Amino acid sequence: MDLGIAGRRAIVCASSKGLGRACAMALAQAGCAVLVNGRDSARLEATAREIRAATGAHIVAVAGDLDSAEVRAALLEACPAPDILVNNNGGPAPFAELTRENILRGLESNMLTPIALVQRVAPGMARRRFGRIVNIASSSVRAPIAGLDVSSGARAGLTAFLAASARALAKDNVTINSIQPGAFDTDWIRSILDRSAAATGGAPAALRAQREAAIPAGRFGAPEEFGALCAFLCSAQAGYLTGQNILIDGGAFPGAF
Ligand SMILES: NC(=O)c1ccc[n+]([C@@H]2O[C@H](COP(=O)([O-])OP(=O)(O)OC[C@H]3O[C@@H](n4cnc5c(N)ncnc54)[C@H](OP(=O)(O)O)[C@@H]3O)[C@@H](O)[C@H]2O)c1
Repeated sequence: MDLGIAGRRAIVCASSKGLGRACAMALAQAGCAVLVNGRDSARLEATAREIRAATGAHIVAVAGDLDSAEVRAALLEACPAPDILVNNNGGPAPFAELTRENILRGLESNMLTPIALVQRVAPGMARRRFGRIVNIASSSVRAPIAGLDVSSGARAGLTAFLAASARALAKDNVTINSIQPGAFDTDWIRSILDRSAAATGGAPAALRAQREAAIPAGRFGAPEEFGALCAFLCSAQAGYLTGQNILIDGGAFPGAF
């Protein structure tokens, strides 16, 4: 399917690996010029090279921590008029202690940083009458996961905050949607399994098998499946789809709606 976005410019935050990388790859496959980002510049450069080699797309890498205003400004300097913004960031690790400082750090990463980027890019998208904004959230916004309270709360705040903006921007062909991933096979989930194994004395492989068995699909999701959904939400055809929170979890959430 031609997504109708060849030649569009995309900023994909936190995209040197995992779900962000899969979104960057899928957008590059659709013909977009893509800006990739991550803190570890060696890994980021390697990812940029791989996506370039796989797709022939124009890929620019901007290294740095998204929670810094200077780094966010550098992203916009390298890609001043983006058509697509994928908001992603590291998820807060489960905090041993919910101190005020830890809660504020989580709010910064998973709510305030993406809002700041939307505020920077949305007016230009509206003027140019094309914009696609996708936020990578979590299924924990819908169904809480013990220990991820800060992540769930911050992302729920982001979702509610942007719900009105999505409606306000719709007439200018700017959409804002969130994807809520369940369990996907990335380093993030592997680190969570390693931590629980260390805490319980179990083996990570056994914990993974248990988690997978509890998912109706019987497995973790592949990042490529996530990237394909993100690319569709950024497509020309998705202009009538806005303000939605799309769960992709292999059927794990048990509700009918
Ligand atoms: N995988 C899942 O099953 C799952 C489920 C629900 C929600 N999520 C959420 O989805 C998001 C992505 O998860 P993932 O599984 O793709 O994680 P991942 O494989 O660990 O990748 C995280 C990416 O974000 C970058 N990053 C982290 N903090 C950053 C920062 N402050 N500034 C710039 N880049 C940063 C990392 O690069 P550097 O470390 O080099 O910066 C890396 O490229 C996370 O917020 C996670 O909580 C994931």
